[in-house]
Amino acid sequence: MKLILLGPPGAGKGTQSVELSKSYGIPHISTGDILRESVKAGLPLGLKAKSYMDKGELVPDEVVIGIVAERLKNPDTKKGFILDGFPRTVKQAVGLDEALAKMLSGIDLVIYFQTSTKVAIERLTGRRVCKNCGFNYHAKNMPPRKEGVCDKCGGPLYQRPDDNEATVLNRLKVYEEQTKPLVDYYMKKGTLKKVSGDLQVGELFKVLSQIFAEAKLA
Ligand code: AP5
Repeated sequence: MKLILLGPPGAGKGTQSVELSKSYGIPHISTGDILRESVKAGLPLGLKAKSYMDKGELVPDEVVIGIVAERLKNPDTKKGFILDGFPRTVKQAVGLDEALAKMLSGIDLVIYFQTSTKVAIERLTGRRVCKNCGFNYHAKNMPPRKEGVCDKCGGPLYQRPDDNEATVLNRLKVYEEQTKPLVDYYMKKGTLKKVSGDLQVGELFKVLSQIFAEAKLA
């Protein structure tokens, strides 16, 4: 099952990817996670990406297309994969098509998480992430048992530097201008399915599982 999860920041793409990856045994490939790991490790890629990410701007296309094309060569993608946060521009989508064509492969489904702006802002500004294991919480809706401490591993929780309100608003603007045109791109290819990103985590997971079963992907 080769999937793209498409939608605005805060739509829940990362949250669903983690569950889908566990349930279907296919890797979750998040360009945001790969870039944040490179920042944390002080790699040249991270140093280059950080200034874009902190402002909520997109990292240049050539950089992310290269990252994903390399990652897809890993044998763990043979059974399938979940792309989360990539592609984000038409140029990236074309780059992905080219990389997959070289591997005689293609995308089975693009899931578009249609999400209201109010919900996205509320989720992102309240998000807290564990520094150790990366588990996501929400200050109001999904708080940890002990404030500032991860329930799973005891690690400290932090707020992503791009989750402040001003940067969130810019990320949503960048999404509207540069990423939303991909809805049309994939609709024309006939691979797009719309779901509501406003649903609760468990409800949305059920909707997705049903779509995969109907498409005979699982
Ligand atoms: P990235 O890390 O991809 O961030 P994003 O797309 O802005 O996505 P988010 O992680 O913010 O949202 P999400 O939809 O995954 O929601 P999540 O499940 O986490 O990118 C960060 C930056 O990296 C970009 O701005 C850019 O600079 C760069 N970058 C990355 N990819 C790039 C690319 N391809 N090209 C160029 N640059 C790139 O959930 C959010 C919160 O809501 C959490 O607290 C969660 O617990 C909660 N939540 C989730 N689902 C639900 C639900 N159903 N109900 C209630 N709460 C929920």
